[in-house]
Amino acid sequence: MTFVIALPCVDVKDKACIDECPLDCIYEGERMLYIQPDECIDCGACEPVCPVEAIFFEDDTPQDWQHFNTVNAEFFSDLGAPGSSTKLGPIERDHPIVAALPTLGAVPPVLAIPPNA
Ligand code: F3S
Ligand code: F3S
Repeated sequence: MTFVIALPCVDVKDKACIDECPLDCIYEGERMLYIQPDECIDCGACEPVCPVEAIFFEDDTPQDWQHFNTVNAEFFSDLGAPGSSTKLGPIERDHPIVAALPTLGAVPPVLAIPPNA
């Protein structure tokens, strides 16, 4: 079993979770962070510190976000278990499902034009 990071992390990346993880198994992608499921020891230390409540025990992931259980695992398909997110550093890509998400909180261009401009 593992903890997973879900949608609220996207484009937020607070990173408070990283400091709490004793296994250094929370990895940084472009738009969100991902937990390596084989390295996570289910200690739960990361879950309460996330300010946007993005972290869940995988059995408790809300229904709408359950695909993030797979998203976290599949992010490591080609990386395997790197052993340390600090050593590996940021990874300049995301899971395809995350990469395809619209930018959350983006202002539509038409609304970004000031009145009388
Ligand atoms: Fe993301 Fe929350 Fe960690 S926003 S980076 S899961 S503290
Ligand atoms: Fe790390 Fe424990 Fe979370 S091992 S990913 S802090 S559950």
